[in-house]
Amino acid sequence: MDILVVGGGGREHAIIKKLRENAGVDRIYALPGNGGIAMDAECFPIKATDIEGIKAFAKEYRPDYAVVAPDDPLVMGCVDELTNIGIPCFGPKAAAAVIEGSKVFSKNLMKKYGIPTARYHTFDNISDALYYLESSPIPTVIKADGLALGKGVVIAETREDAVAAVRSMMEDHKFGESGDRIVIEEFLEGPEVSVLAFTDGKTIVPMISSMDHKRAGDGDTGLNTGGMGTVAPNPYYTDEAAARCMEEIFVPTMRAMNAEGRTFKGCLYFGLMITEKGPKVIEYNCRFGDPEAQVVLPLLDTDLLTIMQAVTEERLAEVDVKWKDGSACCVIAASDGYPVSYEKGYEIDIPEDVLPHVYVAGAVEEEGRLLTSGGRVLGVTAVEPTLAEAIEASYDMLDRIDFANKYYRADIGQRALKAVR
Ligand code: AMP
Ligand code: GLY
Repeated sequence: MDILVVGGGGREHAIIKKLRENAGVDRIYALPGNGGIAMDAECFPIKATDIEGIKAFAKEYRPDYAVVAPDDPLVMGCVDELTNIGIPCFGPKAAAAVIEGSKVFSKNLMKKYGIPTARYHTFDNISDALYYLESSPIPTVIKADGLALGKGVVIAETREDAVAAVRSMMEDHKFGESGDRIVIEEFLEGPEVSVLAFTDGKTIVPMISSMDHKRAGDGDTGLNTGGMGTVAPNPYYTDEAAARCMEEIFVPTMRAMNAEGRTFKGCLYFGLMITEKGPKVIEYNCRFGDPEAQVVLPLLDTDLLTIMQAVTEERLAEVDVKWKDGSACCVIAASDGYPVSYEKGYEIDIPEDVLPHVYVAGAVEEEGRLLTSGGRVLGVTAVEPTLAEAIEASYDMLDRIDFANKYYRADIGQRALKAVR
């Protein structure tokens, strides 16, 4: 069985390592992969957004199955294209990926089907948006409609900041067309929980919960990043919250997408906030989170390929998805200066015994050496009986990984630990 994986970050490395646990898997092709993924898959320099290139590759190499992991190719219809040439795929088609591709779509979906989320208004005209802001509650949250590399959300603490955010999106086109329409919504408070779920449109199976750490600095300070670390399970996600989410959010979202003629098959990511009034949706993503995948997949006790194929074939109900006991912690090592500017090209040294726990995000291979090439360089995940042990073990491993300008947050998991005690 040969598998094509589209993408080239830490999340894709985690997916590939998990797929490798299935003895029936022969070749794994990664497009484009990266220098670290090259240890576990054959990498080809075709960008994840080069849909024509991916299609041509698939026609030539004829993989038996494909996994499309990042948001852009999903929104661009990569799964539609691969399915059309007869390659079964894991991931939503473009019509369903719009749940992440357009915040206006997802907010309107939630409103129409009564799925709890922040109150909001949408605008496609700057003067209306600015007029609304004159009397809106503050703080408020401004979101660009389309994909914006995770940077299209501004929490405005003052009216001036809110106006500046609207101007940068709608007037200066900071996010290009993604900011032609915007959502302005109610500011919510409470612990955040990420829940990824397998769904084939008939059944929805939530995975173990997790917690991301999006800000660059300790104590949740500094700029937003792609994610500096994760823990799973998330102790704020109580059994009661889980039951409410299943009933009020997960199942209704699956049914809503069916009712819209946009059946979602793949991994649906629920970014949730557990507010005083119950769980609410902050955002949907049409894919595995990064670095959520790096803690959730190591805890998965059922064969990943078996689950993925069941999703594709719409028989997820037949699979018993099991989880390991214990907790996982993933700490991201970045290049100092991320997410603004940083140097790259430094050699990475990873001890042999640490390697199985490492998910490489931004590195290239040159003459047998692994060199830094990105902001987020790698993540290291430990699975241990308790959260405290997982945190300690992942930092111990991270200490033994060496590269120049290594930067990481020192407090991954600390907030979760408070909820455990
Ligand atoms: P996103 O890029 O959609 O993941 O949003 C980035 C972050 O902004 C989220 O993880 C939340 O921490 C925060 N956020 C988004 N929407 C809201 C909201 N309505 N209220 C409070 N915080 C929010
Ligand atoms: N870690 C957040 C995301 O993948 O969007």
